[in-house]
Amino acid sequence: MEESLLRVKEIGKHFGGLWAVNRASLDVARGSITALVGPNGSGKTTLFNVIFGLHKPDEGRVYFNGERIDHLAPHQVYAKGIVHAFQIPRLFYRLTVLDNMLLAARGHKGDGLLNSVVFRQGWQAQERELADKALELLNLLELDHLTLSPAGELSGGQRKLLEIGRALMAAPVLLLLDEPAAGVNPNLGRKIFERIELFRQRGLSFFIIEHRLEILFDFADWVYVMDRGKIAIEGKPEEVAKDSTFYKVYLGD
Ligand SMILES: Nc1ncnc2c1ncn2[C@@H]1O[C@H](COP(=O)(O)OP(=O)(O)OP(=O)(O)O)[C@@H](O)[C@H]1O
Ligand SMILES: [Mg+2]
Repeated sequence: MEESLLRVKEIGKHFGGLWAVNRASLDVARGSITALVGPNGSGKTTLFNVIFGLHKPDEGRVYFNGERIDHLAPHQVYAKGIVHAFQIPRLFYRLTVLDNMLLAARGHKGDGLLNSVVFRQGWQAQERELADKALELLNLLELDHLTLSPAGELSGGQRKLLEIGRALMAAPVLLLLDEPAAGVNPNLGRKIFERIELFRQRGLSFFIIEHRLEILFDFADWVYVMDRGKIAIEGKPEEVAKDSTFYKVYLGD
């Protein structure tokens, strides 16, 4: 079997006496859309927070590309290519969609006075490159007609797409998305997942928490179901949907 891109091994994280994540293990295959579902409070977001370095785990290890990352700070995990889309600072509502994209870019050489004055030429070349990239992404996300609109004028679903676009400006290897379709109408929710599928086809990998199972299950390759900090079951969406454990987890004992 091919080595997995992300490997979570026996991760435990507690808050006081509560084990929010309790010896959870899972793998995200390279090039996959892998899903993490489960009832409210089952530990999904806490596990994401451990993966991107916000929380140090109390137990277990996390590997990315075979390398341990569980001791790294969020910016170091980010530098390895794991980007948490909705963790990036919120949108600037008064700036244009394009400016929001440009501000999210990694390794921006225009930062700093010295760069902007002394290396102006190099800065302009890089600025153009970034703008090209931003325009291409906005096109793929079907936001290109809004390039020069203030981000504050976007609908809820369009804002979600823009946040995904901002994460893509960092050229991630693995994108963590915590509820990308939350709070948007079913059509837009599906559209968001269609865009995700498009970027998967272009080589990106996704690890997605989502409560909108009727949409998620049409796109996920593999589903992990979390219950009280543990992975209760895993499988292909159609297998999980047939599993009686899946219903027990959601309905409670
Ligand atoms: N920083 C924290 N301090 C204390 N308890 C926390 C903290 N973060 C999460 N918890 C607790 O850990 C448990 C798991 O929470 P978590 O947010 O990971 O669940 P979730 O599966 O993401 O839920 P939801 O689907 O509602 O987003 C909950 O009981 C929650 O109250
Ligand atoms: Mg959550």
